[in-house]
Amino acid sequence: MNTAAHERIAVERAVPVARLEVERLRQDFPILRQTFHGKPLVYLDNAATTQKPQSVIDCEARYYGSLNANVHRGVHTLSQRATDAYEAARDAVRGLINAAGREEIVFVRGTTEAINLVAASFGQRLRPGDEILISAMEHHSNIVPWQLACQRSGASLQVAPINDAGELMLEQFARLLGPSTRMVAMTHLSNALGTVNPVRHIIELAHAQGIPVLIDGAQAVPHLKVDVQALDCDFYAFSGHKLYGPTGVGVLYGKAGLLDAMPPYQGGGDMIREVTFGRTTYNALPYKFEAGTPNIAGVIALGAAIGYVSALGLEAIAAHEHALLAYASAQAAQIAGLRMIGTAADKASILSFTLDGIHPHDVGTILDQHGVAVRAGHHCAMPVMERFGVPATVRASFALYNLREEVDALFAAVRAAQEVFA
Ligand code: ALA
Repeated sequence: MNTAAHERIAVERAVPVARLEVERLRQDFPILRQTFHGKPLVYLDNAATTQKPQSVIDCEARYYGSLNANVHRGVHTLSQRATDAYEAARDAVRGLINAAGREEIVFVRGTTEAINLVAASFGQRLRPGDEILISAMEHHSNIVPWQLACQRSGASLQVAPINDAGELMLEQFARLLGPSTRMVAMTHLSNALGTVNPVRHIIELAHAQGIPVLIDGAQAVPHLKVDVQALDCDFYAFSGHKLYGPTGVGVLYGKAGLLDAMPPYQGGGDMIREVTFGRTTYNALPYKFEAGTPNIAGVIALGAAIGYVSALGLEAIAAHEHALLAYASAQAAQIAGLRMIGTAADKASILSFTLDGIHPHDVGTILDQHGVAVRAGHHCAMPVMERFGVPATVRASFALYNLREEVDALFAAVRAAQEVFA
């Protein structure tokens, strides 16, 4: 196990963690009461999106029922109330990730848009010969925006390799950092492998050479306690819908100095200070990056989702999911013909595997017949599939409401799939 993993586990052990009352919490999630094919739903596709507690569903409905108005635009009371609720959600996000200031929190559509924003805007300073350094375990949304930025500028994309366990090869990563590197963009927690990257160390290595770092936190924020000031990352991106919030809303955190120096990403209403046909001046942060009417209901409901997870405590959620992952990994190890993809020493919430002689899509279909919802596919990480020589994997991913009995149901269905193909 690497040093960062030891440190993280030591910290987790030092903090007394409350146990989640999972059976009771499940009552908060109405969707989980359903049955499919005569079986109770076992929802293990949480890395794709999490289910929503009633408080989040109610919040969004309440917004449309009693608060709906455009934000930052009206002098009327309804608009002021909507603006206050919208800005309160920004404060909730700031608190969740411990950003130094609320102006560092930009609302976007999701992680993908957050990374595209940085690649397009920060990317305008790229020149031929410059380099962007990513890892071999990135999601397509932390590859393609950088490829586009490279195509526009003549910069090139460098890729730090991963080992057979799915861990970043830190020495090779350090060797790829150099005077031409303009940005490191790296996932915190791999959606395809479950690997938790030693991002604090990665950021230190990059900063030693004056290189800014963007962290893709889409998978990490629901499962780990993230502190952007402690990490000292320059940008951090995540989505609301993986954090028990609505789809279509996400967050870009950026250090104020960097965001301030970057040109706008999109032009339109709210991002301006003054417009004439000759010249436009831009609004202060974060509004400079929030052109057009935002997803107001989504942002406010994201605030409710943050309230929900914060009341439970991310440490308690992480401990519960860690125990489930350990339980599931031990069961997986007992199944002949099951190959785990991603066996890093430091992992969270994700179990990816293949079964000898059965295509992952067939496994997924049979699991569905047993009420078990998993993702089967390339997980928007085709280079990871290529690295491990598989077309796809079956991925079970855990959330705060999952039970050990659901892990048992997963592996009972896996055995049934093996029998079908025996
Ligand atoms: N990025 C999401 C996943 O891994 C959609 O499933």
